[in-house]
Amino acid sequence: MTTAIYKISKNGSSLNIEWKDGEKSSFNFLWLRDNCPTAHDKDSRHRMFNILNVSENIEAKEFKIDKDGKLIIKWSEGEHTSFYDPSWLRNNCYTLKNKKKYSSPYELWDNSLQNNLKSITIEHKEIINSDDGLIKWLELLHHKGIAIVKNSPVDKKSALPVLNRISHTRETFFKTPFEVINIPQPNNSAYTAHALRNHMDLPWFENPPGYQFLHCLINSAKGGDSSAVDGFAVADYLKKNEKEIFETLINVHLKFRDKDYTQVVHRSFHAPAISLTKDGDYNDIRFSVATMDALDCKPEIMDKVYKAHHRFGNLLHDDKFQIKFRLEPGDIFSFNNRRLLHGRTSFDPNSGERHLQGYYMDRDEIIGRLNFLKKNK
Ligand code: OGA
Ligand code: ZN
Repeated sequence: MTTAIYKISKNGSSLNIEWKDGEKSSFNFLWLRDNCPTAHDKDSRHRMFNILNVSENIEAKEFKIDKDGKLIIKWSEGEHTSFYDPSWLRNNCYTLKNKKKYSSPYELWDNSLQNNLKSITIEHKEIINSDDGLIKWLELLHHKGIAIVKNSPVDKKSALPVLNRISHTRETFFKTPFEVINIPQPNNSAYTAHALRNHMDLPWFENPPGYQFLHCLINSAKGGDSSAVDGFAVADYLKKNEKEIFETLINVHLKFRDKDYTQVVHRSFHAPAISLTKDGDYNDIRFSVATMDALDCKPEIMDKVYKAHHRFGNLLHDDKFQIKFRLEPGDIFSFNNRRLLHGRTSFDPNSGERHLQGYYMDRDEIIGRLNFLKKNK
């Protein structure tokens, strides 16, 4: 058994463990005490034990491996003994986790995806009828950032049952669903017949919706073709080829705002065009020509910032990176709103009808649901 403990020894404020397979771990005493298996409530799984009730000098008074292979620690204070399962320790070992090279969940793509659009489609009934179908959809969303659900019903709000296979939607003042139709005096440029340059939705929120779902009900008007681009792939291109521009895009906070005429709340937020995770991976992209506010960064960098924004924007519309397709009634164009930029060509409202219904969902729901389903498989 690879998770069996071979040897234990005390080393300052930690316990060293040598495993049967030769790997070595170090576990800090405060960490061990905080993660005693009795610390958590069985239902809420919240920690009921309070680490603040022991001193920062707590240590193992006695320690041994019992006949079942469990690590037993008798603590120097609080009259408490902890029993640790070796496989739990191994799975949560932060020594080994930090030794492992980071591997990104993101599969970056460019225009070559155009030749293989089938690879990002999934049948509506497959998701409704099976967890495997749901997992496939979620994996496309998480890894590629894009999926097109085919052959969904085309009644109003009929995307809700398939979306609720994942979780609840995210409400905004645009309402759920939001109606993407051509209307007079629109409070958003999407509600016109104009072309929309590649953009993300709602970059002026502190936390813009993680995912967006555009459900096509009717698309008989001339024009209104869709485009999409993987913002992470463009960011990665800049990181590898145009380092200075990349550095500007990750370091300088831009400003976004929304104050359409229907609103009694003026929302605005500063964020860099590209943000990174703790592992240096891509976290999100903020790009929207339509809703970027008058920038207010330092005068000595304004020129550099505008040129970086200009270059990034041009690459986000470059045919090397973007794909183009036409939504058919029954398609649900689903994508990571903080990774992909999406757009459409203008359409002629006199030539036919066009009606999409849009929904948002937080990223936590997508990744959390995928984690849950994979664990229970
Ligand atoms: C939107 C949008 C695209 C389209 O509603 O945010 O980008 O194809 N719509 O109408
Ligand atoms: Zn949009």
